[in-house]
Amino acid sequence: MSLRIGILTGGGDAPGLNAVIRAVVKRAVGQLHWQVIGIEDSFDGLLCEPRRLHNLDLPSCKGILHRGGTILGTTNHGDPFDYPMPDGSHADRSAELAEAIRDEGLEGLIVVGGDGTQRIGWRLMQEHGIPVVGVPKTIDNDLSATDYTFGFMSAVDVATEALDRLHSTAESHDRVMLLEVMGRDAGWIALYAGIAGGADCIVIPEIPYAVDRIVRKIRRRGTLGRPFTLIIIAEGAVPHHDSPSDTESAHPKVGGGKAAYALAQQLSERIDAEIRVTVLGHLQRGGGPIPFDRILGTRFGIGAVELVTAGRWGEIACLRNGKVEGVPIEKAISTYRLVDPNDELVRTARAVGIEMGG
Ligand code: F6P
Repeated sequence: MSLRIGILTGGGDAPGLNAVIRAVVKRAVGQLHWQVIGIEDSFDGLLCEPRRLHNLDLPSCKGILHRGGTILGTTNHGDPFDYPMPDGSHADRSAELAEAIRDEGLEGLIVVGGDGTQRIGWRLMQEHGIPVVGVPKTIDNDLSATDYTFGFMSAVDVATEALDRLHSTAESHDRVMLLEVMGRDAGWIALYAGIAGGADCIVIPEIPYAVDRIVRKIRRRGTLGRPFTLIIIAEGAVPHHDSPSDTESAHPKVGGGKAAYALAQQLSERIDAEIRVTVLGHLQRGGGPIPFDRILGTRFGIGAVELVTAGRWGEIACLRNGKVEGVPIEKAISTYRLVDPNDELVRTARAVGIEMGG
């Protein structure tokens, strides 16, 4: 069987995307003698004129395993079913996309992306008969079908190092330090990095916080001769009195320090200590993947090629109980994996004295 398939990366980037591309090419081109066509900037590479496509051969994937970002480029705009047009309107360009895929002789696509990108792939298959295999990606680790997505542990690594660095300066100045990390809906990065970096408080969207609990923690530390406090807060965290509609109007788009500054403001009204805010932002997504994500990206790339070989279109390569296996894309995108407030990790955090804010 010799195939000609396309591969694209969609949505926000995540360390490990290049590991996936490299693994697909090494296996599919180097060993199975297929043709692999790289599509630039998610589906956009097929919708523009001239099309932006690259024949991915072995030399084109040399030296990319450790590199951050994606050699194919990506975008989190440009849904072909709701495409933003230059005049500000939106148009369904999915039929045009399907036509371009057929015109290029692509017998299927490997779609590497988060739930939004996977949903597009799924619809392309359902509505236009384009064979698609998925690879899950998000630094948020919030896809329910896979134990881990690549990029997550690299983000945790960056956030943990940030906490380590904040620790010494917090201690020197007796300050309260807030570190805001990504996590619009899911607090996994804050939870993992908070435990790994010895945070005193971890504040996540799934556990709306009571500021008084955090104030008590800061004061208690003071009485124990620890007049500094490290707080890690996910960008989607909200105080418990905020109803969803209040939250929506208060934070139309999360990130950029809104959650951390909101908490800092409430703390400053109650405590005397100096408070400083650090917003980690896209440092969590940039840079190369740590070994865990290089390995996971490689496994997912090989898993995707195996799914194609087996003709298991419509499935996504996931890590389940330590093994890579295919899961129907539709199932994989149906639910988010949020932190359960009774999760063993949350209980572990509480058991080592970390204040969860609620
Ligand atoms: O979904 C991944 C993610 O990194 C979120 O954690 C974050 O809220 C969002 O993307 C940021 O997106 P952008 O790069 O468009 O600002």
